[in-house]
Amino acid sequence: MKKSIVTPSRMKEDSELDLKLRPQFLKDFVGQEKIKEQLQIFIKAAKKRGDALDHVLFYGPPGLGKTTLANIVARELGVNINGTSGPVIERPIDLSAILSHLKEKDILFIDEVHRLNHVVEEILYPAMEDFKLDIMIGKGPSARSVKLELPQYTLIGATTRAGLITSPLRARFGIIIRVGYYNHEEMEKIVRRSATILDIEMEDKGGVEIARRSRGTPRVANRLLKRVRDYAEVKADGRISVNVAGKALEMLEVDEFGLDDMDKFILTTIVEKFNGGPVGLSTISSAVGEESDTIEEVYEPYLVQEGYLERTPRGRKVTERGYECLKLKKRSGKQGNLW
Ligand SMILES: Nc1ncnc2c1ncn2[C@@H]1O[C@H](COP(=O)(O)OP(=O)(O)O)[C@@H](O)[C@H]1O
Ligand SMILES: [Mg+2]
Repeated sequence: MKKSIVTPSRMKEDSELDLKLRPQFLKDFVGQEKIKEQLQIFIKAAKKRGDALDHVLFYGPPGLGKTTLANIVARELGVNINGTSGPVIERPIDLSAILSHLKEKDILFIDEVHRLNHVVEEILYPAMEDFKLDIMIGKGPSARSVKLELPQYTLIGATTRAGLITSPLRARFGIIIRVGYYNHEEMEKIVRRSATILDIEMEDKGGVEIARRSRGTPRVANRLLKRVRDYAEVKADGRISVNVAGKALEMLEVDEFGLDDMDKFILTTIVEKFNGGPVGLSTISSAVGEESDTIEEVYEPYLVQEGYLERTPRGRKVTERGYECLKLKKRSGKQGNLW
């Protein structure tokens, strides 16, 4: 039985599986022990007082569990969660429509909260601080101001780009939490947990192989696990052995070190154009054609955590390990070929 890897039905199946894989409560959420402990305390305290939880901001690279945590917080508090995202709220009236539907202690989740436009953002300030909404409806002489009392609610914002959050907005979040990359052990646990939920037979070492190449990111791990399962079903007996995992990942062209194309492009550029560095962030940014703060917030943290890149006072430098992973030899002296 031959199955194609990407078909519409497969994509639908994927999104259903994603829901199944999403941890529902703090106890199911693997890793991030400090975050879980903090949230547990804040949630307990808010419940004890009968108050809405303070506004929460989750920030960190994509795929690490920010949306999942927002949903978990709602479930742990036993309240409703309404989700939207920064760019969707175009006008003040859109925001007021969302806010006026909230009930006491509900959660409003705004993904990509750094992408709110400034008109909407300014209306949000009093709505966060004093639970008051004050908007102008209409234009010109017929314009009128509408004031609305809001219930005590909790805003949960998520962003991959903390540097783009304005300071007045940031100041209105009582709880600010950075979600970082997972270590190897945690990644292995996540892969094993997902395999169990999906009823996949997997050798421990097969799981290790998938975890190792997932860039410290649960979303990537789940995606690779599903594709490796496809391979195992079609090319083997369905069981993910270390051998099957290795072959499948090779077919999927997943980098042995778990890096993605942009990671490698950044490292290669520093090596080839700047002799491995040190080189300033803005120079790297123009050389690879990506904004500096995207590089700083989305790509660099993983490269630094895994020891491929080093931050020095004079700029970024590719480490020995970075060279190794690019399979490049460090240029010695003036002559010599990079390869
Ligand atoms: N700590 C975790 N334990 C288990 N699975 C996780 C964890 N964090 C994230 N996931 C999985 O990874 C996927 C991506 O998480 P998500 O919350 O959408 O990330 P983000 O919002 O940060 O981009 C989720 O569907 C979930 O199944
Ligand atoms: Mg998300």
